[in-house]
Amino acid sequence: MERRSVLKWAVRGIGLATAAMVGFPTLIAGFAPVWQRRPGKESWQAIGTVDDFPLGEMRKIVVTLPEEPWGAALREKAVYAWRPSEQEAIVYSRSCTDLGCPLTFDPGSQCFFCPCHGGIFDKNGERLAGPPRRPMYRFATRIVNGEIRIDLHSVPLMA
Ligand code: FES
Repeated sequence: MERRSVLKWAVRGIGLATAAMVGFPTLIAGFAPVWQRRPGKESWQAIGTVDDFPLGEMRKIVVTLPEEPWGAALREKAVYAWRPSEQEAIVYSRSCTDLGCPLTFDPGSQCFFCPCHGGIFDKNGERLAGPPRRPMYRFATRIVNGEIRIDLHSVPLMA
């Protein structure tokens, strides 16, 4: 190999390494707000009454986000909700915690399945299998006068 050729590849390698060192953190910083929770800015929304959610039964519902900066068609978000007891409601984002694919609940196995890379979560949102490293995104909830409310800002923006 000629000396000129070696130098050419060395310069390319250094250029690529420099671009990666600068570009990767910039990319992460740019997308970070999309995946972070938004503490201190609550946005409570009713999703139904306790009568809409029989004890122990998982329900998939669609909530409309009131103020997100996306187009109207993107403001609808599917969530899964259930009540393990009279005093408690649990509401999950439908987005997988791996790369955000939409989860599906299987009533037979009582598990959530991700179609993308095989992620599986149990009914409590805990990871059972696959690449996700964390449990399902879970909304903060309140039951007020029989009405179930969720804080839309208690999960990351894209969840
Ligand atoms: S996006 Fe769900 S397992 Fe990868």
